[in-house]
Amino acid sequence: MKFPDIFEPYEKLIAIEILGKEHNVPENNSLLRCFQFLSMENISYGEFCWNGECLNCQVWLDNNGKEKGVIACRTTVQPGMKIIRLAEGIELE
Ligand code: FES
Repeated sequence: MKFPDIFEPYEKLIAIEILGKEHNVPENNSLLRCFQFLSMENISYGEFCWNGECLNCQVWLDNNGKEKGVIACRTTVQPGMKIIRLAEGIELE
């Protein structure tokens, strides 16, 4: 199943780390779209409002050794991001 139109335009994939594993995801997209790219069905059918209200998409980044919580649907992916914790409803496998 593919929904290519849901992604913001991107030319390349960039590497980020999720729970210690490297993944390649589309640049220029929100972290939640990147999770969807990795796990299309789980994220598409998950309970996500996609507009910053439900907080079901919260993740925690490694910010120089400290955890920083962000809202994945409102955070644009950056190369080398390290995600160290995911809200319970985010299933990537
Ligand atoms: S999906 Fe609801 S706040 Fe991000």
